Amino acid sequence: MIVTIDGPAGAGKSSISRRLAEELGFEFLDTGAMYRAVALKGLRSEIDWDDQDRLVEFAKSANIDLSGQSVILDGEDVSLEIRSQQVTEVTRYAASNVGVREELVRLQREIAEGKDIVTEGRDQGTLVFPHAQCKIFLTASPEERARRRVGDLAKRGEEVDFEVILQQQTKRDEEDSQREVGPLLKAEDAIEVVTDGMTEVQVLQKLVGIVQRYQHA
Ligand code: DC
Repeated sequence: MIVTIDGPAGAGKSSISRRLAEELGFEFLDTGAMYRAVALKGLRSEIDWDDQDRLVEFAKSANIDLSGQSVILDGEDVSLEIRSQQVTEVTRYAASNVGVREELVRLQREIAEGKDIVTEGRDQGTLVFPHAQCKIFLTASPEERARRRVGDLAKRGEEVDFEVILQQQTKRDEEDSQREVGPLLKAEDAIEVVTDGMTEVQVLQKLVGIVQRYQHA
């Protein structure tokens, strides 16, 4: 069974989706981490971001292993580095690149093949797995999402200004939803869950309930 979770940045998708997968005994696929890993590879090679073909080559040659708790890029644990502000900023070049998306979508389908899996991103329920049995669209208000992002970065020792984060997030929301390839969209048959004011445990319980309805249908 495939469970897709899509939604904007900062809705708490990553940690909730991972916990949901654990709770259900399913595997978990963080597709944002794949775009981040390709961007990190570009950053390290000081790529010219206008060189779209080179980034596609990086996506094809990158060995991205998401099977454990960590994100392994070409044999190195980059779990923390891919979440830095610097990588977050340049990931849009990977996310808006048609060839990179083609390659990563192919990989995502290959990884999910025949598995019970929770897969998380922007285009999972619409484009990558249109026939998924259970689709969830997880969101929250812009302010709530920015507050959570500030908190996450603070835990990592990055001090950032709330207003700056909110502005960056608004820009990313626009880029995410207006992107010509793989835009952020709620699938028609997805269930929308707005997480404002909910604790992680409450969101988790709600999602487990939703998936169980589909499992027993
Ligand atoms: O969910 P995240 O913040 O880790 O995602 C990082 C970036 O990758 C974000 O700009 C959106 C993009 N992304 C995407 O285009 N398609 C996906 N399936 C997942 C993420």
